[in-house]
Amino acid sequence: MTVRGVPVPIVTRLLTLEDAPALAGLLQRNQAFLAPWEPIRPANWCTPEGQRQALHDVLALHAQGLALPHAVLDHDGAVAGRITLTGIARGAFLSASLGYWVSQDRNGRGLATAAVGRMKSIAFGELGLHRIEAGTLEHNAASQRVLRRNGFVRFGFAPRYVRIAGRWQDHVLFQVLDEDEPVDVTDTAHPSLT
Ligand SMILES: CC(C)(COP(=O)(O)OP(=O)(O)OC[C@H]1O[C@@H](n2cnc3c(N)ncnc32)[C@H](O)[C@@H]1OP(=O)(O)O)[C@@H](O)C(=O)NCCC(=O)NCCS
Repeated sequence: MTVRGVPVPIVTRLLTLEDAPALAGLLQRNQAFLAPWEPIRPANWCTPEGQRQALHDVLALHAQGLALPHAVLDHDGAVAGRITLTGIARGAFLSASLGYWVSQDRNGRGLATAAVGRMKSIAFGELGLHRIEAGTLEHNAASQRVLRRNGFVRFGFAPRYVRIAGRWQDHVLFQVLDEDEPVDVTDTAHPSLT
């Protein structure tokens, strides 16, 4: 992948079952950090067995063309989080939903911004999609910034939309289309992308 002809490091890759222990370790360390932004998870979610089952399930959806689960990679190639396209719809919709998280100790380095950019290029490239949607809690300013930097625009507000942290919570809805003006996330020169 290149930006203005300059190679950009690979920032995501397809998850495999072998990533279960690394993901479980990250989720254990980030339990308190992620809890306000995520659904309540099964009791074994942060264990290698729980993650192996979750990966098995999402990779089955991937095999059917319904999901694209990627690891967010740190600069040394280590797994630093997860980003997933789900609900991939074809036909007249050609749309998917995007969700992601990055380990707290890796935050603020542009990893999520770069990962969203890569998923966008896969979605509009090899997957041939027309639209990506993402919803955030109203006060999730960091996630909204990540989306806006990737050209997502707010298009709606969904009251009591998803049960997050055990409560049905309002969400701000964002989308980006393959026909939107391209956005160069290096314009604001994040250190991790230059
Ligand atoms: C949201 C999240 C993915 C961001 O990951 P990240 O790797 O730190 O993101 P980036 O470094 O690419 O970009 C974060 C941007 O938000 C900005 N930001 C961070 N906290 C902010 C805040 N409280 N208010 C406004 N902007 C904020 C950063 O300055 C940065 O913008 P910049 O690059 O223009 O300076 C990460 O914090 C996370 O996993 N949060 C918990 C789970 C979550 O919210 N997932 C998304 C659900 S919709």
